[in-house]
Amino acid sequence: MTQPRPIRTVRGVRDILPGETVRWQRVEAEARRVFEAHGYREIRLPLFERTELFARGIGETTDIVEKEMYTFQDRSGESLTLRPEATASLLRAYIEHGLHVQPKPVRLYTLGPMFRYERPQAGRYRQFHQINVEALGEAHPALDAEVIGMLMELFRALGLAERLALQVNSIGDEACRPAFRERLAAYLREHAGELCPECRGRIERNPLRVLDCKRPGCQPLIDKAPSILEALCPGCREHFERVRGYLDALGLAYRVNPRMVRGLDYYVRTTFEVLTEELGAQNALAGGGRYDGLIQALGGPPDPGIGFAIGVERVTLLLGAGPDGPLPTALLIPLGEAALTALLPLAQAARRHGVGVEVAYGRKLRGELERAHRLGVPYVVIVGEDELRADRATLRDMASGAQRAIPLDRLPEELAALGRPG
Ligand code: HAM
Repeated sequence: MTQPRPIRTVRGVRDILPGETVRWQRVEAEARRVFEAHGYREIRLPLFERTELFARGIGETTDIVEKEMYTFQDRSGESLTLRPEATASLLRAYIEHGLHVQPKPVRLYTLGPMFRYERPQAGRYRQFHQINVEALGEAHPALDAEVIGMLMELFRALGLAERLALQVNSIGDEACRPAFRERLAAYLREHAGELCPECRGRIERNPLRVLDCKRPGCQPLIDKAPSILEALCPGCREHFERVRGYLDALGLAYRVNPRMVRGLDYYVRTTFEVLTEELGAQNALAGGGRYDGLIQALGGPPDPGIGFAIGVERVTLLLGAGPDGPLPTALLIPLGEAALTALLPLAQAARRHGVGVEVAYGRKLRGELERAHRLGVPYVVIVGEDELRADRATLRDMASGAQRAIPLDRLPEELAALGRPG
């Protein structure tokens, strides 16, 4: 019989191996700690939703909805989509469960995989992970600063703050953006010949997105385009000034970038991104903004909201390789069946004392010592026939080679004492 061909992962989809999960756990644990210190609580959401939710929530003319969604029909013929982001799902849950009756702002966070059919490259995947935060039901500009400050606090806690740049912008609201959009479209139309085909296609559908084009050929025109910040209505202008004032009060460094437009249509007023120069084209580690009006557009109350999402793959790439995961404190090596039977309950008792142990399966001592060495465990415990008869175990310090005998029934406590740091 021929050997069957192994099946590999789908393009753009990765396994996160044990050597990496340590970093992932660290990022997630710091995120939970920082967010909970700000009063945010976790919500867990489904991985797929009705397609209509994303079409309405993210915007029909966005890249995500136009060409990146994993959409399929289930067996009943309903159109479903693997979530490309979490905000629309979270707002659906907020509306569906009447969370708006809680004291506002309602502060929520969620962690998990997202799915976008993008061209994979380093830092860009088709299944990727986000840490997502949303604060709902409060329009005060201090909330914008709280959310941005919390994001930067997480990067500070991870030791990354120095390597990242925060950019903020205001993209106006329904009162001022339509007129700006018209002005920008008119300007772009006038110079359409100098734009790349993709930008040309966007002039009528979504002219603001042209400002985000990275092609060198489009830059001179983009540089001279009208600035949204000069077109803000008094309400948006005041909001943005106050956000900046609170960011200054928090001592946060940032750059105002009037060309920053986000790839999702729901934003109004404040938008922000955290960028790095270390990951090539995939330079955004996190992005977010206000989306007042979106909850209502999804059939909910007229509650404002603001939030962000962090790309976890990109954060772990920046963290680089770190120490391996936690090791067991000891490998228990029984020499023979009777010793194995005696060690099994002692190992369990040691674990209940909070110390990590592995039990070997009674093979040759030399081979097991070699394995302990390769695992990197600091201690081994050897129980052979002689030890068993004397109710003793031999405890060996792998670094020094020093050995001592300990009473078998004291083994769990002895190991627990070794397992305690310091
Ligand atoms: P987004 O800018 O589309 O925003 O994504 C946020 C972050 O997710 C990006 O900055 C990036 O780090 C990461 N990311 C996006 N696509 C990929 C990919 N294909 N591979 C790896 N990482 C990726 C949102 O998703 C909004 N829902 C954020 C938000 C929340 N706004 C308000 N609340």
